[in-house]
Amino acid sequence: MSALLDIEGVQPEIPVTPVQGQRVFIETYGCQMNVSDTELMLGILQDAGYASAQRPEDADVVVLNTCAIREHAEERVRGRLGQLRALKYRRPDLIMGVSGCMAKHVSESLMKDAPYVDLVVGPDSYRKLPDLIAEARGDAALDVRLDRGEFYAGVDPIRKASSNAYITIMRGCDKFCTFCIVPYVRGRERSVPAREIVRQARAAADAGFREVTLLGQTVNSYRDGACDFADLLAMVACVDGIYRIRFTSPHPSDFSEKVIETMAREKKICRFIHLPVQSGSNRVLKAMQRSYTVDDYLGLVDDLRAAMPDLCLSTDIIAGFPGETQSDFEATLSLMAQVRYDSAFMFKYSARKGTVAFREMPDTVSEEEKGRRLEAVIAQQNCISEKINATYVGRTLEVLVQGDARKGEGLAAGKSDGFKTVVFPREGVADHALVQVEIARTTLRTLFGRRVPCAG
Ligand code: 5AD
Ligand code: SF4
Repeated sequence: MSALLDIEGVQPEIPVTPVQGQRVFIETYGCQMNVSDTELMLGILQDAGYASAQRPEDADVVVLNTCAIREHAEERVRGRLGQLRALKYRRPDLIMGVSGCMAKHVSESLMKDAPYVDLVVGPDSYRKLPDLIAEARGDAALDVRLDRGEFYAGVDPIRKASSNAYITIMRGCDKFCTFCIVPYVRGRERSVPAREIVRQARAAADAGFREVTLLGQTVNSYRDGACDFADLLAMVACVDGIYRIRFTSPHPSDFSEKVIETMAREKKICRFIHLPVQSGSNRVLKAMQRSYTVDDYLGLVDDLRAAMPDLCLSTDIIAGFPGETQSDFEATLSLMAQVRYDSAFMFKYSARKGTVAFREMPDTVSEEEKGRRLEAVIAQQNCISEKINATYVGRTLEVLVQGDARKGEGLAAGKSDGFKTVVFPREGVADHALVQVEIARTTLRTLFGRRVPCAG
């Protein structure tokens, strides 16, 4: 799955129906899948009568929905738990919970190191949350069992007001890349039935969302027995009121010709693909068990660009995988220069207990060298991103308005079809509208422009 955004967010408000008079606050760490899981948990808890709190201070139940992908992600959560401990001591009846990937990965050490945690709940146990919270009022409650039959059918997520709705279409992963903890903490791959996904897309459109992002750890290996990923894309494209469809993250080995054809045909499917490559060295790719070679990957990029010449691409890169030599690393730099990604998420390798790499591949690259390699990939990528963005000056892009720009009075921000952040004077335009913006100036991460009348 992709690195995606590191989102630590405020949750959407649940209408107050305090059947039990209890309020819950969930803080989300990690990828979009976790954002989507938080929305599911809020749906389940609302059905059980919980209302939402906007701050941990106002909540009766605080849950950190965590990520375990790299050591750093877990350290952040441990730090946050340390901060929240004071709250628990002030109010011993507060239920402190940890959910998600880290809950599964380190459940025992978590309960030992942070005895003030009352509740530990893994990614397949969210339906049991109301019962587990009740149980945690007596003794600590833990449920981290994986359940290959669980895809939360019938649960209506509570989504934050936005132009985009995340829809989880498959859970788990069967790829077992040697560096990755995901298959161990999220379990085996399973797909949500297509009719349930279409139902959710319709509900999202009715609720005013204009874009859906289909989520899965290897989203393009989706299959529900009757439909494959291409069929599903075509079905979601038929939903009225949805203008844009995105998906993340596809695995390079699962990109069928049929998906490429469907993308090229369906204009609602955005011209942006996050296509994690991880390394540009065949030797390292093999050790990672990525199941493609550099040539396979470059061939796929050629096919995608031949079908969609305006396609934007991003990727994930790991620097300093065990055994990565200087020349392996240079091969990664050279692949990135060849593909010319619009953007990339780049990480230092982090050994994760439980993975094959942790067990069998000594961490040969020093922290300093990993740091140097990471800086080098980032510097090269920034240079490429900046140059690509500069080519947008003078072009007019369709932008889906997301909200106020982070900086600047009276400015709005939105996304282009190719997932570029575009900032422009709001001049009365509403959030979630589609507008045309002519680009005047660009930076590494942002395109700036002015609205122009619709071409049609
Ligand atoms: N160390 C560093 N990066 C990792 N990723 C996954 N596992 C690790 C790890 N152990 C990165 C990969 C993946 C993204 C979600 O996180 O690049 O695509
Ligand atoms: Fe992605 Fe590989 Fe991890 Fe599966 S095992 S989530 S394909 S990196």
